[in-house]
Amino acid sequence: MKDNTSLIRQIHDMLGQDKKACVRSFGCQLNVSDGEKIKGILRQAGYSFTDDETEADIIILNTCAVRESAEDRVFGIVGSMKKLKENKPSLLIGIAGCMTAQEHIAEKIKKSYPQVDIVLGTSAISALPGLLLEALKGRKFSADISEYDDFSEAAEQVRESSFKASVPIMFGCNNFCTYCIVPFVRGRERSRRPEDIVSEVRGLVADGYKEIMLLGQNVNSYGNDLADDVTFPGLLRQLNEIEGDFWIRFMSSHPKDASRELIDTIFECGKVAKHLHLPVQSGSTEVLRRMNRRYSIEKYLGTAEYILAKDRDFSLTTDIIVGFPNETDEEFEATLDILRRVKYDNVYSFIYSKRSGTKAAEIEDMVSDETKGKRMRRLLEVQREISTEHYKRFLGRTMRVLVDGPAKKHQGMMTGKSNEFIIVEFEGDISLTGQFVDVKITDTMNWAVRGELI
Ligand code: SAH
Ligand code: SF4
Ligand code: F3S
Repeated sequence: MKDNTSLIRQIHDMLGQDKKACVRSFGCQLNVSDGEKIKGILRQAGYSFTDDETEADIIILNTCAVRESAEDRVFGIVGSMKKLKENKPSLLIGIAGCMTAQEHIAEKIKKSYPQVDIVLGTSAISALPGLLLEALKGRKFSADISEYDDFSEAAEQVRESSFKASVPIMFGCNNFCTYCIVPFVRGRERSRRPEDIVSEVRGLVADGYKEIMLLGQNVNSYGNDLADDVTFPGLLRQLNEIEGDFWIRFMSSHPKDASRELIDTIFECGKVAKHLHLPVQSGSTEVLRRMNRRYSIEKYLGTAEYILAKDRDFSLTTDIIVGFPNETDEEFEATLDILRRVKYDNVYSFIYSKRSGTKAAEIEDMVSDETKGKRMRRLLEVQREISTEHYKRFLGRTMRVLVDGPAKKHQGMMTGKSNEFIIVEFEGDISLTGQFVDVKITDTMNWAVRGELI
């Protein structure tokens, strides 16, 4: 990262008292983690934080580009900020994140949204102090979407949670799945040095963090770009050695690289959670070929079976894209079939969204939106039955749970996630937030299980 100390000091001197920043991150956890770094810079510059946009002096929208709906939402919000700015002309508005890395979007923002002061690219977080200073000095529109080598070590982060921490281990993606914008907006894979990761995690554990979520678009290729002989399983083993009572999670794993060594390592390392997010995307090998996923359904099932043979109760979750261009009824049925065979505890499903610049965007798609909508509803129905049934394996068992806080919808109940990444509700006191507890499971619902604190 660039040394910004003097710029930050200048901003600090210009700001005055009680300045507030509102940073909203959309999209995946890597983006949320970038948001924490953006907040780190703003805090050093003298800002405190608010969720209320009307009382903010600077608003930063940290955007996601993975689906069109995500982009539309941001444009809607930016549009509505015109009013905020009219009421408070000194308000600064910044757009950061994956949307800005697409030239046509950066152009559109510049042309059609004059209320925006700052545009900050995904690899340019360290450019924020320079841009902010310009904007504070009254410059109309400052943008930096160039690529810096700033992925490495943030000076300070303002973390969203005091007990769950996200730790990016690598940035970017080399896979170019044909539907996906991520390689275009996040660049090629860059791995952090293992010693930096280990020391960050050690610090977090010393600060009382109970869950460490290692992040990357494909953590299995961690280290491929480093000179030393570091691999993801090797990193997991090093982190597992750190003293303390905490869990290690990671996402995402690309099935083409999910090796036996990785799975053996998960089982050998006591701190690594017994859950794997293994996005299958489709149950049809032919669709997977058109997606450039580089594995067959047989290979994927082989991996799932290897895991489940070691532990039938292990938890698997996945991502599905419904309605990839020209998906046939049979191909869609194959996806339902894979859900039934693997029995995922949770499925994150998305209707295909055309992303300009990707290979799949060039395909002429003959499937109607109506058919895609129908397929999506059917998939949700099928999966609801599967997970409700599958959760029954936990009845009568005691699950270790990291408590998130009060359950929003159920008064008097607390909620948390088990080691297997299952939502668990129980009656308990708010003071348990951020603690590990044991819960005996008495009931299952279609999105969670319930039990009694022991
Ligand atoms: N690197 C991760 C995925 C990150 S994007 C992986 O490979 O697993 C998260 C999910 O968004 C993907 O798994 C995919 O299911 C979905 N997704 C990505 N591009 C999409 C698109 N164009 N339309 C719909 N869903 C998409
Ligand atoms: Fe996108 Fe594929 Fe990379 Fe995941 S692995 S980020 S889906 S290109
Ligand atoms: Fe979205 Fe960028 Fe993440 S496109 S899913 S925020 S890497």
